[in-house]
Amino acid sequence: MSDGPRPAAPDPAPAHVAIIMDGNGRWAQMRGLPRQEGHRRGLEALRRTVRNAADLGIRVLTLYSFSTENWRRPMAEVSFLLGLLRRFVENDLAELNEAGVRVRIIGSREDLAPDLRGLVERAETMTQDNAGLTLVVAFNYGSRDEITRMARNLARDVVAGRLVPEAIDEEMLASRLDTAALPDPDLVIRTSGETRISNFLLWQAAYAEFVFTPVLWPDFDRKALEDALAEFHRRERRYGGVGQAAEAKVGVA
Ligand code: FPP
Repeated sequence: MSDGPRPAAPDPAPAHVAIIMDGNGRWAQMRGLPRQEGHRRGLEALRRTVRNAADLGIRVLTLYSFSTENWRRPMAEVSFLLGLLRRFVENDLAELNEAGVRVRIIGSREDLAPDLRGLVERAETMTQDNAGLTLVVAFNYGSRDEITRMARNLARDVVAGRLVPEAIDEEMLASRLDTAALPDPDLVIRTSGETRISNFLLWQAAYAEFVFTPVLWPDFDRKALEDALAEFHRRERRYGGVGQAAEAKVGVA
């Protein structure tokens, strides 16, 4: 047996990766194609990323698919995106279920058509006991909307006498967000070179690392995901503390 140095164990993947999938429109425009084609290819990138994330050991993958602000787009584009969600759930659910994926949808469901709401609920119920990757699809999601709904909900409980204001703490707030029981994201990736958070997981991403890549979403592949994870591993997370290097300097145990 060799007693030489052992190769270092690979860094474990971050438990929760969230992605702002951006650049579908530009991807299409650069090719002289309609924006819809960019979204269609975006759905392929989404499927690929779900497989790659599971393969790389990521436990939770959250994908920003449609924001509360996206209703401002032309009606035809909005309908196309709603259709893509429908198509994704209808066509992919069985395969996702077989692969052990647990599906969760976050965002406001009130504005969704009843049949789409039904589909989404079926996806969640069918996969709720799966133990593989948790796929969180943020659809009609906006952080401010989520926090507003949560505040309204708390106020109702206080008015009804079910809750005293003093009992409200960070843990309770987190447990009433759409992401209840999910870990906070460790890493948020945004594609297409934009460096905004765009109303995505504002509460949950308080200590997340952010990686911005110029890759347009339809081109996002395994290498792009691995590059983002490598960048994540180069960062030192301090959670408001001073970090390991500084601790060593001052002799903190
Ligand atoms: C941003 O690109 C992308 C979106 C608003 C939609 C994301 C949707 C998908 C990736 C596929 C659909 C998946 C489901 C499940 C609905 P953009 O259109 O803003 O691109 P641009 O900034 O280049 O115009």
